[in-house]
Amino acid sequence: MSRSAHPAGPRHADVVSDGHYLAPADDLNVLDEKVWSRTVTRDEHGALTVGGLTVARLAEEFGTPAYFLDEADFRARCRAWSDAFGPGADVFYAGKAFLSRAVVRWLKEEGLNLDVCSGGELATALDAGMPAERIAFHGNNKTVEEIERAVAAGVGRIVLDSFQEIVRVAHVAQGLGKRQRVQIRVTVGVEAHTHEFIATAHEDQKFGIALAGGQAAEAVRRALTLDGLELVGIHSHIGSQIFDMAGFEVSARRVVQLLAEVRDEHGVELPEIDLGGGLGIAYTSEDDPREPHEIAKSLGDIVTRECEAAGLATPRISVEPGRAIVGPTAFTLYEVGTVKPLEGLRTYVSVDGGMSDNIRTALYDAEYSVALASRTSDAEPMLVRVVGKHCESGDIVVKDAYLPSDLAPGDLIAVPATGAYCRSMASNYNHALRPPVVAVRDGEARVIVRRETEEDLLRLDVG
Ligand code: LLP
Repeated sequence: MSRSAHPAGPRHADVVSDGHYLAPADDLNVLDEKVWSRTVTRDEHGALTVGGLTVARLAEEFGTPAYFLDEADFRARCRAWSDAFGPGADVFYAGKAFLSRAVVRWLKEEGLNLDVCSGGELATALDAGMPAERIAFHGNNKTVEEIERAVAAGVGRIVLDSFQEIVRVAHVAQGLGKRQRVQIRVTVGVEAHTHEFIATAHEDQKFGIALAGGQAAEAVRRALTLDGLELVGIHSHIGSQIFDMAGFEVSARRVVQLLAEVRDEHGVELPEIDLGGGLGIAYTSEDDPREPHEIAKSLGDIVTRECEAAGLATPRISVEPGRAIVGPTAFTLYEVGTVKPLEGLRTYVSVDGGMSDNIRTALYDAEYSVALASRTSDAEPMLVRVVGKHCESGDIVVKDAYLPSDLAPGDLIAVPATGAYCRSMASNYNHALRPPVVAVRDGEARVIVRRETEEDLLRLDVG
């Protein structure tokens, strides 16, 4: 699909909500490999398959809606990231994108580290056997209890986010007779080109300590004086779903400048920098994400160049991709319940899930693709909006897309690139039961997070 101003003036029905003309793909049955996980294809009858299993069989066994995660693709992406950065750097998978015990085991086997940002994520990581030294603990308001657990477990690093936290972590570590390795998260003051709610490096937001006004330098000064802390580096995360490398380059340059200032003032060369996550993925055919090796090269080059210019030894670089690893590896499978054509506008296709399994469209105006999954069709394309079953008109899964005009209740449709921030941000709105995550690999499917049941909901309701 392509989005553009329509050359011959817009056709009424095809002008999508942002005022642009959205052209249907030449053949709606063709799957754009950019947005689908690696083992997704169509079988000889036209049905979508993943890991060698057709969606009809998967729907029968696991029900809908459900997320199907392509384990081979997940592992391949882990390897691509760690190969690209090589042994001189560290890749931390950002667990907030999607975390479960199985995911932790895959990460461990593929040699990745893990970034957690809550007690719950830490518990999952430890329970599934991630060695504590391979865990980084993040968050702008970690509780004392969470800090105690992280320090006691021996996490590899805690990323400090405020002046209060510097003291808090030092205090906890000292109390436990430990010296905790820490990084300081700085706000570098760049505007990442992404949705306002997922940009994190401009100054007027809650994360990190600003480089501006000498705040970050003051944080370093304080951290270096506290016995409970071993300050090992500086951290910067500029935002999420970013395609343009320019923001990362500015961030790397400013972080290296701080390292040089620290060396000049304290005679200490901090050995690590972390440039965060945030690399974009393809949700539609319009998106052009960078490959891990391009990202590694571009970040490595800039850090090396800046360090040489400042007379610093190149620090160990780490990155924290979440979406770029898990995002493309899963699709959500829905069953169509109703098809409602609105004359002169578009056709509303209601599915058996919605904003409870994918809040991103409502929250960030995110764009998604969709395909008829249970069969192919040669019917004319129709402009659709895929909506859920919740009690709000903002309950939109795919805002503008084309599906074949013979779409009917009972058809299965699939929304690709839902591996990141969909299950992890799912809710029970309207007492929806959160869908399962099913891992598929080499002709086998197994539930890694089971579907919620009404008993689960009622168990929490103790009134
Ligand atoms: N590191 C830190 C410190 C972060 O805060 C984040 C994401 C990441 C790494 C991973 O970013 P990624 O590579 O996944 O873009 N719910 C939003 C995204 C929020 C991201 C929050 N922090 C969404 O659905 O787009």
